[in-house]
Amino acid sequence: MQSLQNKKILLGISGGIASYKTATLARRLIDVGAEVRVVMTSGAQAFITPLTLQALTGNPVHTDLLDPAAEAAMGHIELARWADIIVIAPASANLMARLVNGFADDLLTTLCLATDVPILIAPAMNRLMWSNAATQDNAKTLTARGYTLLGPDEGAQACGETGAGRMLEPEDIRDRVVQFATNNGVTPISKHAGSPMPTPSEHNPAANQPSAFAEHHKSLAGLHIVITAGPTVEPIDPVRYITNRSSGKMGFALATAAVKQQAKVTLIAGPVSLSTPPGVTRIDVDTAKSMHAAALNAVHGADVFISVAAVADYRVEQVAQEKIKKNDNAMTLTLVRNPDILASIAAMPERPFCVGFAAETEHVEKYARGKLTKKKLDLIAANHVGQPDNPVFGSDTNSLEVFWPTDGHQHIPAAPKKQVAAQLLDIIAERLPTS
Ligand code: C5P
Repeated sequence: MQSLQNKKILLGISGGIASYKTATLARRLIDVGAEVRVVMTSGAQAFITPLTLQALTGNPVHTDLLDPAAEAAMGHIELARWADIIVIAPASANLMARLVNGFADDLLTTLCLATDVPILIAPAMNRLMWSNAATQDNAKTLTARGYTLLGPDEGAQACGETGAGRMLEPEDIRDRVVQFATNNGVTPISKHAGSPMPTPSEHNPAANQPSAFAEHHKSLAGLHIVITAGPTVEPIDPVRYITNRSSGKMGFALATAAVKQQAKVTLIAGPVSLSTPPGVTRIDVDTAKSMHAAALNAVHGADVFISVAAVADYRVEQVAQEKIKKNDNAMTLTLVRNPDILASIAAMPERPFCVGFAAETEHVEKYARGKLTKKKLDLIAANHVGQPDNPVFGSDTNSLEVFWPTDGHQHIPAAPKKQVAAQLLDIIAERLPTS
């Protein structure tokens, strides 16, 4: 276990049932050497008492912005300067909205404005609150400003529902904080006299990376990778739709492997029953059109785009507003072409390194290279579906033939998708442009 020895962590707690887990998180951070001071919003105090956190951390808990006694002991600016890193867990939907809008109406939001150290937040809320467009926009804005989102996870929620919005477990948050501190060197710039204010990308090197590279990249650390995964679903009427058998497993395996390689990952997922890999920003979509819009939005400033999704090539021209009633006649549905998401991104003037996937049943190299050229890709990963080592969609294993322009080729033998994903990312890192 890497250590947080001598690191000063300001642990912010906002109001949510997950705040009871923050008591454990405080202990886990102390276990690996961190000095922890806690700031609680008034909402947090409805769920867990300051006394609990004071007893666990051995430090007074900070709750008030305008309390003369607290200010005399350690003023809010002093507290902001004290921290090497700010971790907010849980971060409620309300807190995220207040951070986006620059509010300074309580101690925690004021500290976040008054600091230049990295801020890591672990969202926790009901699944509908998390998937709401307002929260998703806020998550994107915070990420773009250099905040690092930890989770959320998927699973059973305190409200009795199941879905994305669960706070990561305390041990996962601790591991992510250790990883972040190790990779980013958390000595705050404010502690070096005369240093300029850091930009968001200095806070979080993963943010705002240009897609041109100053030097040859053998590693994906700090790069922003956008991945599409899973099927799309094209409605026929309010109860029927056209889709395909894609499970999303390969795209999710790539997202997991990319986070392990310290990349910042945005995963745009069609409807799949997979939980969000820790550390990944997930955007759920359904139709090809919504996946297209989300991908165009996400790739701005991104370094790599990996299109793993099995995007429906066609959609129903006229989606019926009411359930279509059967009769004795045959029925014809008119289908129209969907946009080619990958080709449209590869055609952008300032585009990321573009990687496609191709599932082929025959003439793998010929067809894959045809797509590589036609869609103007940098790399294509083809799988020979229907083979004994590559049976069907949904399998946990895969093997790939990877092709790139000027006759480049590498075989990735059959292995669990996690391993295949890591190998494919190594090839991508190797192939990224040098300038
Ligand atoms: O379907 P096709 O074999 O052309 O898919 C090749 C690549 O193009 C895949 O990476 C797939 O994700 C992408 N694609 C896309 N939009 C489509 C069709 C395919 O991004 N409408």
